[in-house]
Amino acid sequence: MPADLAVLGLGSTGLPLAQAATAAGVGVIGYDPDPATVADINAGRVPPGSLAAADLRRMLACGFRATADPAVLGRVRTAVICAPTPPGEDHALDLSAVATAARALAAHLRPHTTVVLESAVYPGTTEGYLRPLLESHGLRAGRDFHLAYSPGRLDPGNRAFQLANTPKVVGGCTPACTEAAAAFYGRFTERIVRARGTREAEAVKLLETNYRHVNIAFANEMAVFCHDLGVDLWDVIRCAETKPFGFQAFRPGPGVGGPAAPLDPNAAPHFTPPAHPRLPGHPLRMVELAQEVNSRMPRYVVQRAAALLNEHGKSLRGARVLLLGVTYKADLADQQGAPAREIGTRLLELGAQLCYHDPYVPQWRVMDRPVPRADSLWEAAADADLTLLLQHHRTYDLQGLAVKAQLLLDTRGATPAGAAARL
Ligand SMILES: NC(=O)c1ccc[n+]([C@@H]2O[C@H](COP(=O)([O-])OP(=O)(O)OC[C@H]3O[C@@H](n4cnc5c(N)ncnc54)[C@H](O)[C@@H]3O)[C@@H](O)[C@H]2O)c1
Repeated sequence: MPADLAVLGLGSTGLPLAQAATAAGVGVIGYDPDPATVADINAGRVPPGSLAAADLRRMLACGFRATADPAVLGRVRTAVICAPTPPGEDHALDLSAVATAARALAAHLRPHTTVVLESAVYPGTTEGYLRPLLESHGLRAGRDFHLAYSPGRLDPGNRAFQLANTPKVVGGCTPACTEAAAAFYGRFTERIVRARGTREAEAVKLLETNYRHVNIAFANEMAVFCHDLGVDLWDVIRCAETKPFGFQAFRPGPGVGGPAAPLDPNAAPHFTPPAHPRLPGHPLRMVELAQEVNSRMPRYVVQRAAALLNEHGKSLRGARVLLLGVTYKADLADQQGAPAREIGTRLLELGAQLCYHDPYVPQWRVMDRPVPRADSLWEAAADADLTLLLQHHRTYDLQGLAVKAQLLLDTRGATPAGAAARL
């Protein structure tokens, strides 16, 4: 059956989009080249970190279906590409899945279709990289079909802001492309914000993503500095955030996880001219520095753990260490990029005996070995030489834990002042 919308890529970005559109009465088909993903979704099994199972069931009841058959792409009015763009070895985004999705779409593209890219990309990608792929079968963007970019802005687990009430930025190749994309998103989002063009919309993604990394890096640098000075940074932040203007509090932590890697356009070699006719050719220093500072945090946490044990006459070698919370975000099961794995690896390499506790993670492996899971949190904390809080899930009673644990190192500043060692 023809659908209004095809979502290409049914992961943490594509499925919530498909869900919001389906809920608003839009006929949606999901395309994903991975047959296992397609089979799971059609059977009501949600990919981790994407949707609640009940939401998927409701979508299926409303007629949503997933398919690996690209022929469906020729029967829709709008196609949104949500293919993955993971950072490669050299930190540059790997755009190959976007290219594969674009080729599948191009082969079936019909005139008057609106195509939107939502994957995280560098400024210039929509017109310099995606457009030629979509035009390979003769249709021209801006003349025969509409082409736009719209940054994904999901915050998994956020109960106040979902897709429908988060303003949607759109920027098209032409004003008519922008309007076509705006009309599409306007069917299920409350507010549309028009960027001047695709590059401005892409640069919004760059600004928003890097804002997070740079600000967390500043907080992390302050954490190391304040510890050396003997200053309680958590108290500093508590006071600073009372300033009603010009300050937003960011907090340090054991490292930055999550799906959104920092975006540095200098790492984009694929389409320099003509997409970047005036590429400045100098690095984004703040982004590089943020990556450097944030990537040092897991090692720093292990150093602090060793120092704390040492103060109490113990060494890391042979110490029983309990890791609490191994996901990248509180109260979610998603482990993408979580610093817990590097911290666990470093602790194992130094001879610690690891166990972990996480209500959202039934099994956890480090260095290809399963790490024992603590069933009883309080018993495990009492038994461990050191308890290391890496993620503050809401279910953790930290006051109680601080009393039970032999030593508690809190990397989230979640324990009351004086109750534990804090980052
Ligand atoms: N997760 C977020 O919160 C978030 C927010 C904003 C932007 N983004 C961006 O959105 C993009 C997708 O991220 P995600 O988290 O949904 O990824 P994901 O890994 O959760 O899912 C990607 C899906 O795309 C499928 N896929 C792979 N190749 C494909 C192709 N050629 N055509 C169609 N589908 C294909 C995969 O099988 C998978 O099901 C990335 O660029 C990411 O940076 C993510």
